[in-house]
Amino acid sequence: MEQTQEDDQLSNLPTITGCSAFPVVLYKAHYLFKDSLLRVLSTRHHFQARPTDIFLASLPKSGTTWLKALAFSSLYRTPLPDLSDLRHPLRVSNPHDIVPFIEIESNLDLSSMPSPRLLSTHLPFDLLPTSIADSGSKIVYVCRNPKDTFVSSWHFWNRIREKAGEEPIPLEASFDQFCDGVSVMGPYWNHVVGYWNASRANDAKVLFVKYEDMIADPIGELKRVAGFMGCPFTEEEEERGGVAEGIVKLCGFESLSNLEVNREGVLETMFEDFENKFYFRRGGVGGWRSLLSLEMGRRLDEITASKFAGTGLSV
Ligand code: A3P
Repeated sequence: MEQTQEDDQLSNLPTITGCSAFPVVLYKAHYLFKDSLLRVLSTRHHFQARPTDIFLASLPKSGTTWLKALAFSSLYRTPLPDLSDLRHPLRVSNPHDIVPFIEIESNLDLSSMPSPRLLSTHLPFDLLPTSIADSGSKIVYVCRNPKDTFVSSWHFWNRIREKAGEEPIPLEASFDQFCDGVSVMGPYWNHVVGYWNASRANDAKVLFVKYEDMIADPIGELKRVAGFMGCPFTEEEEERGGVAEGIVKLCGFESLSNLEVNREGVLETMFEDFENKFYFRRGGVGGWRSLLSLEMGRRLDEITASKFAGTGLSV
């Protein structure tokens, strides 16, 4: 591909380190991986959405892996083998291999995927490919509270750095960055509010889901997601019982994290191979307390309250 003057300018944006294992740059008020910037822009202009597409959108470390597993096993439950079948795709592949990211996959031909396609993205709402809005495809957004998201992220990037023989990211400096909005695909609040406003403007096209609600009522939230995707659990499935329950069980933290593919397997990414087990740490709500002080928690709560003021959103 020919390198344009704009590409040169983008390649020369100042890099920021410390919020992940890889440098980010500030592009249109969002922090994106420097090495993925050109690909993000290319995706934005060239990706062709279909009206039947369903996108799973999130900030990293918000429950993306879990949502992918739940949505995939619901949407395709008719052609898929029985959940207990050892050939069920989730038993042999990591959810990220099954539901690809549109802005990251380079070696996958997304255009050859049959409809309805289940795809994913970490892109902020205003950087989504224009064809998504034009095509009328649906988006399920999962949001997680910022304290657990930050802590999950800090551990994740440090596991990758540790594997590469690098020093861990200093906690306090990284936390200050997060509070200042510097995080992968961040600022956190802009990303969340972008999708929140989109869901309020058109709830038939954008469904807003909270990780904490999924933890509290996984079956209820699964039914909401399935209904939104256009594959509600039928009366017959409800009467027969156990279909939604079976999906929740297969996709639960214990079940997924103990599968051999998720203990031993690796995920090829544009950066390097990530171990699948990095996507399963402990899960749950409130784990931030084991890393952040109460004062740090309060600080993040105050920022969140002021950023979400007037939006009708609370996390
Ligand atoms: P923790 O680091 O707090 O444990 P993502 O999938 O967006 O990368 O998010 C990863 C977070 O989701 C991690 O949180 C991970 O443990 C948690 N997670 C992964 N699978 C899960 C599941 N099946 N149920 C609940 N949480 C899950």
